[in-house]
Formats: sequence, structure tokens, C-alpha cells
Amino acid sequence: MVRGVRIAGVGSYAPDRILSNEDLARLVDTNDEWITTRTGMKRRHIAAADQATSDLAIEAGRRALARAGLSVGDIDAFVVATVTPDYPFPATACLVANGLGAPGKPAFDISIACSGFVYGLTVASGLVRSGVFSRVMLIGAESLSKITNYRDRSTCVLFGDGAGAVILEASERNCFLGSSLGADGSNPEVLFQPAGGSRYPASAQTVENSRHYIHMAGKEVFKFAVSKMVDSSLTALAEANLTPDDMAYLIPHQANLRIIDSATKYLKVDPEKVVVNIQEYGNTSSASIPLALAELDAGGKLKQDDVVVFVAFGGGLSWGAVAWRWSA
Ligand SMILES: CC(C)(COP(=O)(O)OP(=O)(O)OC[C@H]1O[C@@H](n2cnc3c(N)ncnc32)[C@H](O)[C@@H]1OP(=O)(O)O)[C@@H](O)C(=O)NCCC(=O)NCCS
Repeated sequence: MVRGVRIAGVGSYAPDRILSNEDLARLVDTNDEWITTRTGMKRRHIAAADQATSDLAIEAGRRALARAGLSVGDIDAFVVATVTPDYPFPATACLVANGLGAPGKPAFDISIACSGFVYGLTVASGLVRSGVFSRVMLIGAESLSKITNYRDRSTCVLFGDGAGAVILEASERNCFLGSSLGADGSNPEVLFQPAGGSRYPASAQTVENSRHYIHMAGKEVFKFAVSKMVDSSLTALAEANLTPDDMAYLIPHQANLRIIDSATKYLKVDPEKVVVNIQEYGNTSSASIPLALAELDAGGKLKQDDVVVFVAFGGGLSWGAVAWRWSA
């Protein structure tokens, strides 16, 4: 059985605590001017010491349920995209389902770094379209501040925390228009968290050498990001015989304003159609796209039948885009 899927509700949550460029300049040798011109970022939201990723995800999930006018009992399965799970195992989705009041329902995580939301949207839409589930809650949630080295100026200015949730439900109208995903694991060191897994298990030495934090070759990531965002957006649109001219909105992963601007230029999209909130949240990995979508939705900007493209890239390396038709 192949049926349609739509987004029934969107919700997001970001912690209250703010880390500004000025705050960062007090921690490392940096300044507001450098951060703003190189990244477009001004502020990030940072989880409290006692807030884990599931706490952010649960709040976003509650808000998505309220927006959809549904209760948690209406949800058949929970999927969380994250690289900052509460624990290496169990899956954070298990904790989220339980926290929302749905113990016993199927729940699993997707780990594909900043591409998590577009991969998750493809997988969860497939589960709904194939008739396995009627409603799936998909949440992109991250507490990147917990794995960020606040003594490394080349990474600590970039990352923030937050969560965004969508509820996917079976529908007569199919809103999933196309998807293009990819990954290349030949050089994982370009963007990774070296220690704490099975290759370099946690030890006093890995901690001493700061190997539990995000490590990144920024320039390498920058180079691949623009071309992959452009190619995957075009391929996802082409699956539905669409072109960038058909797009009402492009919602890109918020990693660097210069990357977003370059992709916008290559895709020849009107910058007015490109959703940017990087100045407020920094890079929140798999949460960035649903955070931006929730803002767009809350602002009443989405109209029936608008074509929206979600596009991301990140650790793996990985990349992907989904073309979507908005249906309220
Ligand atoms: C990280 C990034 C912002 C750095 O910008 P850049 O223009 O490439 O800057 P460079 O790394 O060439 O550094 C330029 C200089 O600024 C310095 N610098 C780095 N971070 C700095 C900071 N926070 N404040 C001030 N100076 C800084 C560097 O040390 C370097 O100094 P040098 O020329 O004396 O050696 C950029 O490469 C980037 O965004 N890459 C993609 C990262 C990304 O998207 N990651 C997430 C993927 S999901």
C-alpha cells in the first residue's frame, strides 16, 4: 500500500540560556566582528546542566502535538535524529516516548549528524506511506554544547542547542515529493567526535586530550557543503519534475551564513525565499531545519501547496534534501 503523508503539526523548543558572541569573546580569543562576518551567528541557546537532549525533544514534541491538535496516544512511533543522545544507548527516542506518556510504542534514533532531519523525514515518511504506521513523531534534537570544547575557538563559536518536532500522518494528499540522500565515509575525521565509541573507548587519556569533543576541519567541510546542498536540492525537486523556480521556501541546515548564501546563489533562488535563523541559534545540527520550519509555521507564512525544500549536510560526511508540498 502506498499512500500519502502530510505534516500535521510542528513544534520547537530552545533552552532559555543565551551564549552571545560577546560571551564567547570572554572565553576564547575571538570577537563579535569575526564571528558575524565568518558565520552569520550572533547568539546560541544553551541547555542547562541538568537538561539532556531528551528534555529538549520532549518539549518540542509536546508543542507539535498541541499545534496538530493531537494527543500522544495518537502517535504510533517515535523517531529522534541526534548525535548528542542522552546515553550511547538506549536510544533517546525511548526516553522521549516515555516522557511524553507513550511507553510501549516503537521508538528509535537516527544518527547521521546534521543530515539527521532530512534522513529522518525520508525514513519516517516511508513508514507512513507504506502503511506500517499512521502517525510518526520525528524530532531533531541536540545538546551540542555538551560535546563542544569551549577552549577551541575554531569550533566553540559555531554550535548551539535546541529541538524541533514534526508529526507525520497518513493523508489522501501526498506531500512527500522527492528525496536525495548521500554519504561518504572515506574520511570521517573531517567532522567527528573521536573518543567515547568503540574505536577510542573512554579513558582518562582521551579525556585529558579533549577527544570527547567535536573535532572539525572547517575548510574541508565548507568546500563540500555548497555543492552537495545544490545537487541534492535539484535532484529532490527533479523527482517531482520541479525546479528551484517552483520553490516557495528553501529551509537549509544552518551551519554558516556564507554556505547558505553560496547555495542560494548557485540555485538562483530569491534570497527572500531562504529561511535563515542562524543568528539566533547557531548550528543546532539535526534540530536546525525543524526549528526554522516551526518559526515559519508560527509566523503564518506557509500557504497551502507551497513547495518547501529541506536541505542539509554534515558529519559522515553526509548530505540530503527533501522536496515537500505544504498541506495544512
Ligand atoms: C569554521 C569556519 C567558520 C572558519 O572560517 P574560515 O573563513 O574557513 O576561517 P579559517 O579556518 O581559514 O581561519 C581564518 C583565521 O581565523 C582564525 N580563527 C578561527 N576561528 C576563529 C575565531 N572564532 N575567532 C577569531 N579567529 C578565528 C584562524 O585561526 C585563522 O587564523 P590564521 O589565518 O592566523 O591562521 C568555516 O570554515 C566554516 O564554517 N566551515 C564549515 C563548518 C561547518 O559547517 N561545520 C558544521 C557542518 S554541519
